[in-house]
Order: sequence, then C-alpha cells, then structure tokens
Amino acid sequence: MSETSPKLRAELERIPTYKPGKPGKPAAAGGPVAYKLSSNENPYPPLPGVLESVSAAACDFNRYPDMACTGLMNELSDRFGVPLSDLATGTGSVGVAQQLIQATSGPGDEVIYAWRSFEAYPIITQISGASSVQVPLTAGDVHDLDAMADAITDRTRLVFVCNPNNPTGTAVRRAELERFLDRVPADVLVVLDEAYREFIRDPEVPDGVELYRKRANVCVLRTFSKAYGLAGLRVGFAIAHEPVAAALRKTAVPFGVSQLAQEAAIASLRAEDELLGRVGSLVCERTRVVDALRAQGWTVPETQANFVWLRLGESTVPFAQACEEHGVVIRPFPGEGVRVTVGEAEANDIFLKVAEAFRREL
Ligand SMILES: Cc1ncc(COP(=O)(O)O)c(C=O)c1O
Repeated sequence: MSETSPKLRAELERIPTYKPGKPGKPAAAGGPVAYKLSSNENPYPPLPGVLESVSAAACDFNRYPDMACTGLMNELSDRFGVPLSDLATGTGSVGVAQQLIQATSGPGDEVIYAWRSFEAYPIITQISGASSVQVPLTAGDVHDLDAMADAITDRTRLVFVCNPNNPTGTAVRRAELERFLDRVPADVLVVLDEAYREFIRDPEVPDGVELYRKRANVCVLRTFSKAYGLAGLRVGFAIAHEPVAAALRKTAVPFGVSQLAQEAAIASLRAEDELLGRVGSLVCERTRVVDALRAQGWTVPETQANFVWLRLGESTVPFAQACEEHGVVIRPFPGEGVRVTVGEAEANDIFLKVAEAFRREL
C-alpha cells in the first residue's frame, strides 16, 4: 500500500476530542452499583405514551423518516406560538449548533463563547475552519457578558450564550442579557443555548423565546435530551428568524432525525404534566444536594440546571476517583472541577457522603 494518505483538512489536526460522560456500570459481584451522574441525563424512564409511539414507529424501519419532521414541527409551532418557517430540527441540539456554525462561519471568521462552557463549542467551531474566541467566566463562574461584547470584532459571526451554563449551572439574567444583546451588531448571530431551560426556577432568567420574538439576530436552541429524557434518540431544535431557520434546513443531514425520535418527541410534548412533575422533583433534589454541600462547607455556584459544579482544582481527579469507588460516576474536568448531575436520590446520597468525607480531608 502507498505510504501517502489522502489529504485531510489541516483544521482537523488540533480538534479536541469530545469526551462523553463515563457510562455507569452494573454492580460487580459484591461491589456498588455505578450510577451515572456524568452526562446530565434524566434518571426517569420514558414519559407515558412514548414507548407506545416508538414501538409503533419501529414497524416501519424499512422506510426513511419524514425528512421535514412535519408532525413534530407542527407540534412545536403550536407549543411555542412560532411560525413553521422559524423552526428547524436536528440530530440533538449539538447537531443544530454545528449546522448554525456551518451556516455562518468559515476560515477567517470568529465564534465567541464563554469558557469553560459546553465542550462541543470548540470542536464544532474548529471543524468549520473558524476561530474560537473563548472569554473566561467571571470569578463567580458566570458568563462575563461585558467581556464577550468587548470581544466582538468585524470577524465575529456567531456568539453562544449557554444559559444556564454547562458545566457551572450558572445563568445570566434578563437585564444583563438584554444589555449584552443591545451591544451585539445586527449581523452577528446570538445563539441562546437553552438545553436546560426546563430546570430554571429564577424568574429573572429570561425565556430565550421572548428575546427571539424581539430580535432578528437571536436564535434559541432547545433539546429533548435533558428534561424530556430522550438523550438516546437524538433530537433537538432551533427557533430562529426565517433566514437563519432556512439556512438550518439547508445544512441538515438529510433524514437525520429518525422517525422514532420524531414520534417520541411528539409524545413527550403531549405528556407535559408528567414531565413538569418529574422536573419539579429533580429541582427539589437539586435544592437538597446544594444545601447539603453548602452545609458541608463547599462553595457551590447557584445552579439553574440539573447538575452542580464544584471547583476542586488539583483535587478534581482524586475526588472523581473517590466517587467512582463508591459507585457514582461523575464528570471531572482535570485541574478545574467536577460537574455532577442531579440523579436518583440514592445516587445523590452517595455523592453527598463522598463529598462530606472528602471535605473533611481537605
Ligand atoms: C449546553 C448544552 N447544549 C447542547 C447539548 C447537546 O444536547 P443534545 O445534542 O443531546 O441535544 C448539551 C448536552 O450536554 C449541553 O450541555
């Protein structure tokens, strides 16, 4: 075989690899069950009606899905009171985020986002050939919106605001977000990534859809992976004004959203009462976990998501190892901190016990 390999794009060379949360494991003989608190998933089984819809759709595997996602688009249009022309679906909201970058940015362009934030942003930016401009979070682990606005240049094409932010859980409020949006030029797209929207309880954190209604350059990203519990089926969507939504429909992988995902998303939207009950229980668990951590002496940033952030610095990896030894898998960011999903009460209890013991040793 020839020694020469096909030419690949140079941009790919420095792309960081996406690290998925480590999977949980069944209990080894005599060992603890490994609960997975590493990917911000929902611990509940599918909502009522979802399995039935998915099972019915499974009989038609031999057919391609509805490429236009007609049923789901109609449901979303009613649910959010937005025209169909302003909606686009994709393979998870990360898929839609990648399409947004493809539609706006290429070599020579800049994409701004806070750091640390969702780890897919640097990857999808680099794939497009655009440059990342990472703006450090404030000392309180919140988006520094003034610094982000200052970072905008005539090369900026897109700004992500992850609200609440993954992995810190912190959210930006209406007044500061509006002030920031006032400073963003009209030809720069602002993507409000609201993957955890349903878990927000602070009334001052705005619903991005309100902001989209007033501003032509705002796009809202949502997902069925978190509160709706459909992470494994890969479906997310954007609400954006027509030119942006149309660009998303152009850049979509044809037939990317399976019929199973479409049916499951529709059934989940129709089970909203049950969904809100489950989210309410997770939010109560979140309060219990945060209160207990603070009582143990930890500094925990105010979280509006289904996870908590502990800035552990050099103790990050040993802390994650201690959790794993006791049966909970969490998400370490070595040298920085750990992100721990609020999951089943038993799993949260184990995490709290490990945190308490670890704290005493610090
Ligand atoms: C902030 C944020 N946005 C988007 C996503 C992507 O979710 P999905 O592609 O499953 O919709 C995640 C997942 O962890 C996330 O944390």
